[in-house]
Amino acid sequence: MPTHTAIAAIAQGDCNAIQVETEKPGPGHVLVKVAYASMIAFDTYITDLAYAVVEFPVILGLNASGTVAAVGEGVTSLAVGDTVTGFALYGRGRKDGPKGTMQEFATFPVFQCAKIPSNITLDAAATIPDNFITSFFSLFDQLGLPIPSSFPTPSPPADHDTPILVYGASSTTGQYSLQLLRAAGYTNVAATASPKHHAFLRTLGAAHVFDYASPTLPEDVARTIGGDGKFALVLDTITAEGTLARVAQVVRPSGSVALLLPIKGGDDVATDGVMYHTVPEMERNPFAPETKLLYVRTFTYPQNAYLRDNLMPRILPELLTAGIIQPNRVRLLDQGTFKERVAIGLDLLRNNKISGEKLIVKVPQ
Ligand SMILES: NC(=O)c1ccc[n+]([C@@H]2O[C@H](COP(=O)([O-])OP(=O)(O)OC[C@H]3O[C@@H](n4cnc5c(N)ncnc54)[C@H](OP(=O)(O)O)[C@@H]3O)[C@@H](O)[C@H]2O)c1
Repeated sequence: MPTHTAIAAIAQGDCNAIQVETEKPGPGHVLVKVAYASMIAFDTYITDLAYAVVEFPVILGLNASGTVAAVGEGVTSLAVGDTVTGFALYGRGRKDGPKGTMQEFATFPVFQCAKIPSNITLDAAATIPDNFITSFFSLFDQLGLPIPSSFPTPSPPADHDTPILVYGASSTTGQYSLQLLRAAGYTNVAATASPKHHAFLRTLGAAHVFDYASPTLPEDVARTIGGDGKFALVLDTITAEGTLARVAQVVRPSGSVALLLPIKGGDDVATDGVMYHTVPEMERNPFAPETKLLYVRTFTYPQNAYLRDNLMPRILPELLTAGIIQPNRVRLLDQGTFKERVAIGLDLLRNNKISGEKLIVKVPQ
């Protein structure tokens, strides 16, 4: 069996290059020759904390773009030579489970791949799958917003002016969420982010922008969004103890809040090692008892059959072709060896040095 190079956490605190077998894709799967793979904070949770690891090694990465090299039995929608961007489910290091994308060849279920339209470059395409899926799943499944018949929606929802907050909107998930809400017809969407991102976030669809570090955030919101001055729906794209405390100040007691697990100790996506899976595990629950808390686990999205069959195969290529969704800004890691590129990325993530852009690793060919 031929082999190729992958970058994996081989033990807690140890990330290295390993050789793995280049497997033939199984039924319903495709093998992709990877050109670019992206990195997220989750890669540091695996490497530094062995978070959700059953067994090492764990190949890092959840997204990759590249060229289909082989198709498995029953695959008719993709062919060898197609350029695609794909999302890999997290396999926890289990031998027979899914593998990460930080490798020269990666296997995907065909329904987790999207063909890349010609207006999107391969590196930009690698920024999309995990956070785009997270945004769509959080808004249109977990928070229960109706999925429009097409994007942009031909008929805005009756409650189009319901106040919605995308907390941490400069994050990669936040940027896709703003664009999707605009395309779905929502007009009273607010974003919190550092002031340097405010003008850009308005271009993505934010009607109001707030500095999350403002000591007067609740008053700033109340003055601006109308009605009772609180949000009916919130997507907290950061989900740390500090962000939950701020969200609790600006959401209606009867409102709904989607949280991207895990809940981190501290106040950003880098973690101090403390992580929770529900708010009651925290020392103090900042929310009113009636506030609905939705714990988002993107890996479960294929349980929604409509999303499984449509989101990556059809909806994403349509949104990209029409320019309704623009990919995140790319911060390209293409210097040094494959292993060194990933090591630089892990360091940037663990030191909270990523702001408004996605880390993309050029995979050596
Ligand atoms: N459960 C799931 O299924 C799921 C799915 C996807 C992501 N996640 C989790 O969601 C988190 C975000 O992921 P991501 O890849 O979207 O992050 P990211 O793009 O790497 O996040 C970076 C952004 O975080 C913002 N930020 C940092 N501290 C903040 C704070 N206190 N308040 C508001 N914004 C703050 C920064 O904004 P400024 O530059 O404006 O300061 C920066 O732009 C990670 O913990 C990830 O593991 C979970």
